Amino acid sequence: MSDASSLRPICITAVEELRQRVGRARREGRKVGLVPTMGALHAGHLSLVRASRAECGFTVVTIYVNPSQFGPSEDYRRYPRTLEADLDLLAGWADLVFAPENEAVYPPGFATWVDVGSVAEPFEGEFRPTHFRGVATIVLKLFNLVGADVAYFGQKDYQQARVVQRMVEDLNVPIELRVCPIVREPDGLAMSSRNVYLNPGERRQAAVLCQGLRMAENLVAEGCRDAGEIVARVRAAIQAAPDARIDYVALADPQTLRPVSAVEGRTVLLLAVRIGATRLIDNCILEA
Ligand code: PAF
Repeated sequence: MSDASSLRPICITAVEELRQRVGRARREGRKVGLVPTMGALHAGHLSLVRASRAECGFTVVTIYVNPSQFGPSEDYRRYPRTLEADLDLLAGWADLVFAPENEAVYPPGFATWVDVGSVAEPFEGEFRPTHFRGVATIVLKLFNLVGADVAYFGQKDYQQARVVQRMVEDLNVPIELRVCPIVREPDGLAMSSRNVYLNPGERRQAAVLCQGLRMAENLVAEGCRDAGEIVARVRAAIQAAPDARIDYVALADPQTLRPVSAVEGRTVLLLAVRIGATRLIDNCILEA
């Protein structure tokens, strides 16, 4: 009988080997799916891997904590790195894990960056000014390295998915994107690798993000359309948690991310809230 470790995917660090293995899968006629991650995998990531497995004959998971998407005062150094546990979780699900070293990704002399325009500017772009430049650059590199047919992203990072979509369209990147639903804990907290930073008291308070989203959905269901009113009510619900500090609560056009003054048709509600020292984001689509 095979145990989990025998089903673990092969984990490689070399670009040449990645190209060879993906090339072989392709010659066998297998569709290639890519799930880019920074590791510390949880059920949210696994839902992306499952989606890839359902659609593609060969699933590549990348695990790389990308330094260029962290600001100087952010958590790059302490970001959880759990490669062995990640490989156990992927047993039987992924075909290949690519976990490159920094030197292979950003060799000496590296100087080319991808700057996505207006969709990267508000919200996360305002609070983390170099974040999306780092994300877009690494994602394009991973697309080029893996050469996948389809890539899977989580809706939890809503703006990231929009930024990647914009880049793919603008630069004619030959890949299809899938954005998969947010996976939540029983109390509604969106799964995130950063949830491990929360102490038990903060963890309880963190449910206010999802409660804020649910409140907005209820308001819209009751006929409320005014963005100012919805935002004010959501802010008040979040501020009920003593350790919550709001970075933003905003309603925006789901494609362009431009602010809206009323919920007409589909609108995205975006939240970023610090609970103690941990910054969490969440979102939902509101439909009038
Ligand atoms: O969402 C993430 O985990 C990261 O931003 C990504 C897409 C893997 C790029 O480093």
